[in-house]
Amino acid sequence: MNHIKLGQTDMTTSVLGLGCMGMSGMYGPSDRAESIATIHAALEAGVTLLDTGDFYGSGHNELLIAEALKSAPPSRRDSAIISVKFGAMRDPDGGWSLYDARPASVKNFLAYSLQRLGVDHIDIYRPARLDPNVPIEDTVGAIADMVKAGHVRAAGLSEVGSDTIRRAAAVCPISDLQIEYSLISRNIEEDILPTCRALGISVTAYGVLSRGLISGHWQKAAAGAGDFRAISPRFQAENVDRNLALVEALRKVADRLGVTVAQLAIAWVAAQGNDIVPIIGARRRDRLTEALGALDVKLGEEDLMAISQAVPKGAAAGERYPAAQMARLDSEV
Ligand SMILES: NC(=O)c1ccc[n+]([C@@H]2O[C@H](COP(=O)([O-])OP(=O)(O)OC[C@H]3O[C@@H](n4cnc5c(N)ncnc54)[C@H](OP(=O)(O)O)[C@@H]3O)[C@@H](O)[C@H]2O)c1
Repeated sequence: MNHIKLGQTDMTTSVLGLGCMGMSGMYGPSDRAESIATIHAALEAGVTLLDTGDFYGSGHNELLIAEALKSAPPSRRDSAIISVKFGAMRDPDGGWSLYDARPASVKNFLAYSLQRLGVDHIDIYRPARLDPNVPIEDTVGAIADMVKAGHVRAAGLSEVGSDTIRRAAAVCPISDLQIEYSLISRNIEEDILPTCRALGISVTAYGVLSRGLISGHWQKAAAGAGDFRAISPRFQAENVDRNLALVEALRKVADRLGVTVAQLAIAWVAAQGNDIVPIIGARRRDRLTEALGALDVKLGEEDLMAISQAVPKGAAAGERYPAAQMARLDSEV
């Protein structure tokens, strides 16, 4: 497994990360034992970056990761880089409300995350979204205090635009921006990615498989209750056929290269720069094995051209989030 340096920090990460969100209900029910086995298999394969959020299953995801780390071989456990998002507020019924990234809240959320994860520090700590009521300088300033105190190694950002990135980077070094980036979500290319590059900030890309839609495995109408995909515009009846037609075009390229559709989609993101780390949301070992296979796929100019003919920029039908959530994305303003 190759590694890259994260931003201008002293941290390195495997070139592919594991996102653990789907193990805590965001994509409907998942199997706890299989989730833990998947985290173990990822660590065993040399994946070091594990991404979570304190609000994934309202703490469930952090407790799951803690359990997996506890039962992992010490060398693997010690190599793990844990990235935690905070700020999204939940209710006891699993509902979502506002974001809270006030300095006092940052420290409060962090105290609970440290307990749940069973660690003495968090490697990368980041607000999940910009809190519109709190200047980013204040939020990042609170994280910087926690870096000084030894509770956090680096501050990260998530789904924010260039102006916010610049303001945050003026307060303290930013390791990486976590943001959606895939063959069918390419908005960052115009402005956000160049800003990160100018400031030496890495990108950890999520939604690389568009939450399974462009994995080559998605079956129409497969999303059940409690699954984000049941409300995601791209999976809705009026859009899904057009999006799955793009997948079939991609499958032709994948077949010609002797790889799977998911591997091609992951390899495409990885090929966009050695400062971009795909975080893959595998929650089963077979999915993880498939995703890791993408690391062996080397795409040449002709392959990249064939991919962009199959999935032209902007070809997706439907936005990447429902309208209310899109409106809260600083990265989309
Ligand atoms: N910063 C943010 O705002 C934000 C937002 C969302 C996610 N994230 C982070 O990014 C991580 C990954 O994002 P994502 O869940 O949106 O991702 P994704 O990797 O685009 O999609 C993951 C889903 O794709 C399906 N899939 C099919 N083949 C797969 C394969 N070979 N490998 C992996 N998955 C495959 C799986 O669905 P089935 O299991 O149903 O087959 C899986 O749940 C999350 O776990 C989370 O840590 C961050």
